Amino acid sequence: MRRNARPRRSPDRAVIDDDVEAAGLQWGGRFAEAPDPVLLAFGSSLNDDLFLASFDVVCSRGHVRALEGAGLLTGAAADSLRSALATVATEIDTGAFAAFARAGAFEDVHGAIDARVRELAGEAGESLHAGRSRNDQVATTLALYARDRADRGRAQCVQIAGTLSARARTALASGTVIAATTHWQPAQPVLLAFWLDAAAQPFLRAAQRFAAVHAAASAACPLGSAALAGSSLPLDRAAAAAELGFAGPSRNALDTVGDRDVALDLLHACARAVAAASRLCEEFVLWTTPAFGYARLGDAASTGSSLMPQKRNPDPFELVRAAAARVSGAYAGALGCTIGIGLSYHRDLQETKSLVIRGTEHGLAALDAFSRALDNLILNEAAMDARAADGYTVATDLADALIAAGTTARAAHRAVGARVLAAERANRPLDESDVQALGIPGAPIDARASVAAKRTSGSTSPAAVAAAIDATDADLGRLKAP
Ligand code: ARG
Repeated sequence: MRRNARPRRSPDRAVIDDDVEAAGLQWGGRFAEAPDPVLLAFGSSLNDDLFLASFDVVCSRGHVRALEGAGLLTGAAADSLRSALATVATEIDTGAFAAFARAGAFEDVHGAIDARVRELAGEAGESLHAGRSRNDQVATTLALYARDRADRGRAQCVQIAGTLSARARTALASGTVIAATTHWQPAQPVLLAFWLDAAAQPFLRAAQRFAAVHAAASAACPLGSAALAGSSLPLDRAAAAAELGFAGPSRNALDTVGDRDVALDLLHACARAVAAASRLCEEFVLWTTPAFGYARLGDAASTGSSLMPQKRNPDPFELVRAAAARVSGAYAGALGCTIGIGLSYHRDLQETKSLVIRGTEHGLAALDAFSRALDNLILNEAAMDARAADGYTVATDLADALIAAGTTARAAHRAVGARVLAAERANRPLDESDVQALGIPGAPIDARASVAAKRTSGSTSPAAVAAAIDATDADLGRLKAP
């Protein structure tokens, strides 16, 4: 049927059946009019869920197993379905399947695979959909997709955290100090190693979140839930669930067909991981400005200007920063499509699916881009070190020294604040004269002494940072495998 054609209103059953067939639909018998092609096109999620194609093949293989277990397929029919599905798997790899699906203008990848299997397997192909609905198919396929992408997300987060942790170890050996900020204002000196270990922590937590998604996506297999009530065919759900790597079949068909929790958790994990990356992107965008001079982004990750010959821009960090907005927007949209829709399947869930897929694919691409850009980031430790005490960052240590000597916190804050004001007016740093005036000989007056003076666990003292990096690496070791 032509794209913009109006639906034909024909009393002739054969004409309608032809239109239905041409539109690649899996239904039509109870309709007396052919569908409007514009509405069909509006209702297609094919371009998004082509990402699910290989998982639908796995899911379909599981259903063949369930049908076999029910005694509903002869051995020969099962063989021919399996061999058709193997052919589809190859065609997915070569791109031939995507071309087939797009040419057929299918509503979704599930209908497209069903159609291709019917072409390839002939008579046997007509039985693949017995006891199956796209509702349990979508739910199962999304779970398999979530499991796969959660593994990728976990591996990427482990990779990023590993890079940061390895750099932290090197920086611990060099003892480089940097002025850590709040509100972007100089706050206190910290070891660069401490900063890098801090940067790794959100990626460890993100990796744990992805691991939890993998576990949830392997728990309950939706297949065999059929449309919403289960099936009157004796499908072997346990065998299908085992074949697909689930712990067992899901508990309640009505819940299962409308459950998108795992898919949403996957996108949430992506959104959180990219949000973590976006905060480091912000730091690195500033660090690579000549005004900061803390880092240089290598040529392979930088871009130039079409007009200003001198420019080198840190585009990957800016794009990843923006990707966090895009992916979290997809999450808000995907969750929004589930709000208020009642139990079981509603077509709104197709939009959830599309948003989950697009958001996840972009989120994982952003994590990969971030990891590559990070590998190209060359730190200027000398510049950090030279400016670590700028902005009176040791003032807190002087106040702490006063408190340790018996002054109250408020009085110490006032006394050191007055020294800072005086030094600022004289355009000089805090120095030995301030220590003398405050009566705290030996108090830390430079950035390195400040760091060494820290006493608490989890602090920036070299000993605490060494322990933190060891703990980070131990966690990373545990998170390396799914
Ligand atoms: N295209 C739909 C989706 O991807 C398939 C589910 C159809 N189920 C239904 N009851 N119409 O979500």
